[in-house]
This record gives sequence, C-alpha cells and structure tokens, in this order.
Amino acid sequence: MTKDERKYLDWLKKDKYDGQARAASLAVDLGRLRAGEPLDYVIGWRPFLGCKIVLTERPLIPREETEYWAKEAIEEIKKDKRPKIKCLDIFTGSGCVGLAVLANAKNTVVTFADKSPRALKSVRKNLKVNSFQIGSHRAKVVESDVFSGLSDQFDYIFANPPYIPLGRKLPESVSRYEPREALRAGRDGLLFIKRFLVQAPAHLVEGGKIYLEFGYGQKKAVDILLKKIGFGSWVFGKDQFGRCRFAIIKNSR
Ligand SMILES: C[S@@+](CC[C@H](N)C(=O)[O-])C[C@H]1O[C@@H](n2cnc3c(N)ncnc32)[C@H](O)[C@@H]1O
Repeated sequence: MTKDERKYLDWLKKDKYDGQARAASLAVDLGRLRAGEPLDYVIGWRPFLGCKIVLTERPLIPREETEYWAKEAIEEIKKDKRPKIKCLDIFTGSGCVGLAVLANAKNTVVTFADKSPRALKSVRKNLKVNSFQIGSHRAKVVESDVFSGLSDQFDYIFANPPYIPLGRKLPESVSRYEPREALRAGRDGLLFIKRFLVQAPAHLVEGGKIYLEFGYGQKKAVDILLKKIGFGSWVFGKDQFGRCRFAIIKNSR
C-alpha cells in the first residue's frame, strides 16, 4: 500500500465510518480509489463552508476555488442588514453555494435552480442533511433550463455554470466520474456563460449583484460579453492560487 493510500484510508475511517470501519468495506473502498474514483465520492460527502455536502447522487464535487469566492460573497452579504435578502443559486449542482449562504447569513432566502434531475435530487438531499426545510420560507428548489423556470428578481445571483470547452482533455478521474452536464459548454466553453449573462439582468434587482465563476483563460471573453450586454460595473477576482476565476457584476445602468 502506498503512503497516499494509507492516508486516504485514515480519512475514510474517520469521515465515512466514524471510526467503526470494517476491513471488508475498506477493501472495497480501496478498490474504488485504485480504479481512479475521486476520494470525495468514495467518502460520500465533503465539507463546504461549514455545511456537509452529500455526494451520493454524484453531482459535481464542490471545488476549493468555488468555496473561495463563495466565502467572499457571504462576507459581503453579512454586512447587508436588510431583513430579507433574496438569493439565487443557479447551476446549483450539489447546492453547496446556496447552502453555505443559508447557513452563514441568517437573513437570506435562497432559490436553488438546475436543469439536471441528478442535481435537483442532490440539492434536496443536502437541504435535508443540513436541516433546512424544502419549500420553507428560506429554501426553494426549481427545475430550470438556465432561467426558464424562474420569474423572480434577486438581490444576489451565484452562478458556477459549465465552462469546459468540448475538446479540452480532462483528468480521467473527472471525465469518467463527474457529470458531463456539469462540465462541458460547447466548443469555446462559453455556451452557458453567454446564455446566463444575456438573461440575468431581467432577474436582478437594481443594484443587485452577480458572482460568476468561469474557467482560467476566459476573463477576456467574459469582459467582452459584459460590455456588449451593458452591465453597470464589474470587477474580476482571483482564486487562492492567484488565477482570475470569477467576476462580481453589478446591475446598475
Ligand atoms: C459546474 S456545475 C456547478 C455545481 C455547483 N454550483 C458547484 O459550484 O459545485 C454546473 C451545474 O450546471 C447544471 N446545468 C447544466 N446545464 C444547465 C442548464 N441548461 N440549465 C441549468 N443548469 C444547468 C449542471 O447540472 C451542474 O449541476
């Protein structure tokens, strides 16, 4: 057994089996890891800004880079003392971003939207696991092709759309195990970013904000789109590795 495998088994014992692992179960898990399956799927969940994100439905595994800008968004929302802040977590996947917002900013209500049945099942499960009632005044889940199922306007929209160009090679652990519909976005990777940005102004209140994640190298294309659509102002943000990976966009004309 390699040093890494020993480390992973320790994590599995603690995070999956709560210290009660049986040798047979660990042997099955080790087989899955050796076949290339991501550790987070084998464990079955991962933490995200204080929430437990269950991955048994196999949504996209939340990434540290997403956690980074979501934390920044939450810090900003926490300064907003209005009694009710309406948020949309579009392209929600596991629901990680919206759940972190609900858990960390108590004056928020969040609509979670996705097109994929797998994602919708996953976000419902994660709301339950994190003790939020679906259909309560704070959390709503909507099936939607980008904005098709949504009519409201929001104070904040969080979007991490698929943005990987069709031909780009991905690590096998991603292409074999993670959902294709969460990753691929046409030849240039901009298919959903374009659709999202064109439709977003109609769903954002005056002065509202969008946090949009995009791929490394897509900043210029996003900048051009934002100018073309005529958003009021925007700034780009770097992730924890110094790469420009998100935009904060304000709806004021
Ligand atoms: C990159 S994942 C983001 C998941 C999650 N928000 C995160 O940050 O981990 C993109 C998500 O967009 C969803 N999606 C793909 N096409 C869509 C569409 N046309 N309308 C709405 N959601 C879509 C996928 O099902 C997937 O859950």
